[in-house]
Amino acid sequence: MDTKLRGFVLSVYIVFGLPVITAHNDPSNKIMEDFSGYPIHEPQSQDSLLSLSVDSEGLQKQIDELSTLSETPAPSVTRILYSEKDVLARRFIKNLMGLSGLSVREDAVGNIFGRWDGDEPELAPVSTGSHIDAIPYSGKYDGVIGVLGAIEAINVLKRSGFKPKRSLEVIMFTSEEPTRFGISCLGSRLLAGSKELAELLKKTVDSQNISFFDAARFAGYANHLQDLTSVFLEKGSYSAFIELHIEQGPILEEEATSIGVVTAIAAPASIKVDFEGSGGHAGAVLMPMRNDAGLAAAELALAVEKFVLESGSIDTVGTVGILELHPGAINSIPSKSHLEIDTRDIDEKRRNVVIEKIHQSALSISENRGVKLSEFKIVNQDPPALSDDLITMAMESACQELNLTFRKMISRAYHDSLFMARISPMGMIFIPCYKGYSHKPEEFAAIEDIANGVRVLALTLAKLSLA
Ligand SMILES: *[C@@H]1O[C@H](CO)[C@@H](O)[C@H](O)[C@H]1NC(C)=O
Ligand SMILES: *[C@@H]1O[C@H](CO)[C@@H](O)[C@H](O)[C@H]1NC(C)=O
Ligand SMILES: [Zn+2]
Repeated sequence: MDTKLRGFVLSVYIVFGLPVITAHNDPSNKIMEDFSGYPIHEPQSQDSLLSLSVDSEGLQKQIDELSTLSETPAPSVTRILYSEKDVLARRFIKNLMGLSGLSVREDAVGNIFGRWDGDEPELAPVSTGSHIDAIPYSGKYDGVIGVLGAIEAINVLKRSGFKPKRSLEVIMFTSEEPTRFGISCLGSRLLAGSKELAELLKKTVDSQNISFFDAARFAGYANHLQDLTSVFLEKGSYSAFIELHIEQGPILEEEATSIGVVTAIAAPASIKVDFEGSGGHAGAVLMPMRNDAGLAAAELALAVEKFVLESGSIDTVGTVGILELHPGAINSIPSKSHLEIDTRDIDEKRRNVVIEKIHQSALSISENRGVKLSEFKIVNQDPPALSDDLITMAMESACQELNLTFRKMISRAYHDSLFMARISPMGMIFIPCYKGYSHKPEEFAAIEDIANGVRVLALTLAKLSLA
């Protein structure tokens, strides 16, 4: 066998500090020696650096093929939950899992699991995965490289002759994007045991008034039940969860760094606000007589910016992405206004302080301007998540052994990992993407960068499987 494999074997042993010299008759060493053709207790030499071989060409083909399962023409990708194309894409993934020798299982909402049994299948497995749904007119890499890349990481390990101790599992999560039912990370939220979501889905419909359950049944899921608690996984179901993803930001590309080791995922809170005033004719109602719902909204929007900046941390952000005025005529004082506010941080307390300030401000604006605060609704307020130290350490040493540049960073977008962190130690691997573009057709990641990500993922999975 070649030196690549020998390097791999040596490295796995050295990282775990397993007996390298003394354990001559350790049966696992014997197996390693058999397939590697080298005695593993040989001192490691300089040329034993790792080069786990990724089938880049095959992986790129799969990415391209999956991108054709789209409701809009190339280069854009649109793949909406439980649509015909989504069903085809799911079939594509399950087929690839099968070809990699994984045993495939699906739950009631269509989270797909492909498992490679380890030598000690009773231990909690190590899992990895992401999503393949795509918002309208987006690109072909977001989520996809974390699913196809995970399957390829399994292939890499299999080709190298690796034998997992803990089972390894690839997960394709249902509906990371909120496109159809307005709920992001639907699959992973349920896996993490969200009872609220299981209840909410009983009455959730899409914009065509198709119920969640009818849509799920169309795709072959949720067949005879209204009860989604079967999807819940217990805390401790996995010893680790890792997600490979494009950065969706410009940092790695600008710095020419190969790998981002994610230390924390910022979590959003979203707030809906409605103000109501009396409206009136833009000419006839004099200024002292007005209670302008539009100005109340404008004042609140500026207050959001102020409170976010007051936090003193670059990691606190806030956005008023929706601001609607009613009736929306040039000669009519707005009688109603509607704002939707997104605020995020990696520090939950700091973010919640911002939310509280926004609430107080909405109340005082309403009082000062004589408008009614008819709604102030915190739609969601997910806690941020920190990566697990042992997982980030495994990822960092994987990068070092693979001779790849890396840096620690924060994920400012959120991912299924945010919810997996509720039931499992979690880590994320970022790779560079062109100008940080995402959620548009120009989204691009070079296959060399993807392959680097796959190698880091494969080696990290190997380390954690033996841990
Ligand atoms: C949506 O569908 C439900 C059940 O079929 C029906 O009762 C309701 O009137 C529909 N709503 C709209 C807005 O069409
Ligand atoms: C490691 O990376 C450096 C810098 O890119 C390069 O010069 C060196 O040849 C690499 N070593 C190996 C063994 O790949
Ligand atoms: Zn994504």
